[in-house]
Amino acid sequence: MANVLLGATGSVAAIRVPALYTALVADGHAVKIVATEAAAYFFDPAAIGNEQPARDAVVFLDEDEWSGRKTGRRYEVGDRVVHIDLRTWAEVFVIAPLDANTLAKLAIGLCDNCLTCVWRAWDPARPVVLAPAMNTLMWQNPFTRRHLRAIAADAGAGHIPGHLDESQLIAQINDRSRTLRVIQPIEKRLACGDTGIGGLAEVGEIVTAVREMLARPARPVTF
Ligand SMILES: Cc1cc2nc3c(=O)[nH]c(=O)nc-3n(C[C@H](O)[C@H](O)[C@H](O)COP(=O)(O)O)c2cc1C
Repeated sequence: MANVLLGATGSVAAIRVPALYTALVADGHAVKIVATEAAAYFFDPAAIGNEQPARDAVVFLDEDEWSGRKTGRRYEVGDRVVHIDLRTWAEVFVIAPLDANTLAKLAIGLCDNCLTCVWRAWDPARPVVLAPAMNTLMWQNPFTRRHLRAIAADAGAGHIPGHLDESQLIAQINDRSRTLRVIQPIEKRLACGDTGIGGLAEVGEIVTAVREMLARPARPVTF
């Protein structure tokens, strides 16, 4: 049992977020979700977590980070900083689905929403699971490999040669990094109508990856 933070981004595969949430809870974890604005187009945040008797907040959106901003409220000393609270609470960060836009942001450190602020503030000793999902040509675009290599280098995988294809690259990352697991997208008929690689991995595979990463011993923080 662990505190699992599920990050959801604006892939159509975010329709699976409720199922992934349910599967992680069934696996014994306490689960919170941080979702981008685009992700919330694909599932109803209000419908998640209703089964919990205490009704603690389960889904965090940017409007929770900037409480009352749209109605003119200003920050008051003592207000919670949601991305730091989530980072501190979580023992593992699983971003599923991870879309192309947020993958690029993670690779270069942009932090313009709650999810990417959690990433930027993440304790590098704690594990991360990334499950990309995107159109086949987006996946095969050189940016994908470039961004994954950058993230992997920061997660202790060292330099990975540039000539590897996406599958070989993922195999190298998972072999070399103790804290980062990238889950290979699957081949299927995608929501956009194309058939090819880019579909979100099965829920069960993501849950298993989370369990395996939690079972690894933590390493000391080094910057
Ligand atoms: C219907 C629809 C489906 C989309 N599916 C995907 C997808 O599967 N993968 C992806 O990388 N982007 C997809 N996008 C594009 C992202 O939603 C877009 O890049 C957005 O800016 C991502 O924002 P976020 O990274 O902050 O969540 C889709 C957009 C729409 C409108």
